[in-house]
Amino acid sequence: MNAAIEAEGLTKTFGSDVRALNGVSFSVEKGTVLGLLGPNGAGKTTTVRVLTTTLVPDDGWARVNGLDVVKDANKVRASIGLAGQYAAVDENLTGRENLRMVGQLFQLSRKDANRVADELLEHFDLTEAAQRPAKTYSGGMRRRLDIAAALVVRPPVLFLDEPTTGLDPNSRNSVWQIVEDLVASGTTVLLTTQYLEEADRLADNIVVVDRGAVIAEGTPAELKSTLGETVLDLGFPDPASANSASILFVGSWPAPPVIDGSMLELPIDSGPSQVMAALRVLDDAGMAPSSMTLREPSLDDVFLSLTGRRTELEEAQS
Ligand SMILES: Nc1ncnc2c1ncn2[C@@H]1O[C@H](COP(=O)(O)OP(=O)(O)OP(=O)(O)O)[C@@H](O)[C@H]1O
Ligand SMILES: [Mg+2]
Repeated sequence: MNAAIEAEGLTKTFGSDVRALNGVSFSVEKGTVLGLLGPNGAGKTTTVRVLTTTLVPDDGWARVNGLDVVKDANKVRASIGLAGQYAAVDENLTGRENLRMVGQLFQLSRKDANRVADELLEHFDLTEAAQRPAKTYSGGMRRRLDIAAALVVRPPVLFLDEPTTGLDPNSRNSVWQIVEDLVASGTTVLLTTQYLEEADRLADNIVVVDRGAVIAEGTPAELKSTLGETVLDLGFPDPASANSASILFVGSWPAPPVIDGSMLELPIDSGPSQVMAALRVLDDAGMAPSSMTLREPSLDDVFLSLTGRRTELEEAQS
C-alpha cells in the first residue's frame, strides 16, 4: 500500500488523568478518504492535531507523505491543509483578504496570492461575498471559506475536522461536493465526523474511535453490514412489552434486536419484505407495535452494536 498517512500506537495524556489517545493506529492510502468517526471526546481532534504537528504524542509515531510528524514537522506542515473544527478565518477581513493573507503566509507572490484567492472564491461560490467581512458570512459560507483557506497551496493531503457539524443540509451538501471534487483530483483526505451518514457518503474507509482507541475499522459497507442497512424502530406501550417482543426475534432474526426503553430496534438489510416478515412475527404472537419508523442507522447504532453502550451524548440526554 502507498500510504499518505500512517499512525502507529499514538498515545496522548493531558494532565495526569485524561487519556485522550490510547494507542491509535491506522493508515490511509494515497488518493482515498478516511473517515475518523466517533462521539464527543473520542479523540478525533487530538489525532488530527498530532498528524498536523500542533501536538506532540507521548508515545507512538505518525508519518504524513512519508515524513515524521515530529522530526520533520516543518516539511509536514508545508505539504498539508487543515480546516479545523472551529473556523480559523479572520472575522474582520473580507473573504478575499483572508485567502490572500494565507497565500502570502505561504510565500506566494502578491500576484499569485491574488490569482489563487480569486480562483478559490469562484470555485467555492463566494465571489459575490468576496468583498464583505467574514463576520457577515453564514455558517456554511464561513466553512467554505475555511476549507478554501486550507487549499491555497494545493496540498496533497487535507485534514478536515468535523467539516459539516452545525451546517444546514444545503451547506452540508456543498461541502460534501467539495470533498468529492478534491478526491477526484487526487487529494488524500482525512475527515473526522460524528455522522455515520457523512462517513458513509464520503469515506473509502472508516475508523471508529471511542475513548482514545480504535474500536472498529472497515469500509462503510462492512461497518453497516454489522447492523443492517436500515433500522426498524417499533414502539411498544412499555419496556416489558418491548422485551417480550424482542424475545421473538432472538436467534431467528439475521442481526440481534436491540431494546431501548419501550422501543425495539430491528436491523433490516433486505428491504420491505423483511419489514413485512417482522410484522408477521409479531402478529403471529398476538402483538402489535404502537408506532413504527424506518430509518438509516446512526453512529449511535454502530456504537451500540460495537460496544454494547450508547454514545455518552445519548446517555446524557436519556
Ligand atoms: N488541551 C487539552 N487539555 C486537556 N484535555 C484535553 C485537551 N484536548 C483534549 N482533551 C480531552 O481529550 C479527550 C479527547 O478530546 P478530543 O478533542 O480529541 O475529542 P473529539 O473526538 O475531537 O471530540 P468532539 O467531537 O467533541 O470534537 C477529551 O476528553 C478532551 O476533554
Ligand atoms: Mg473535536
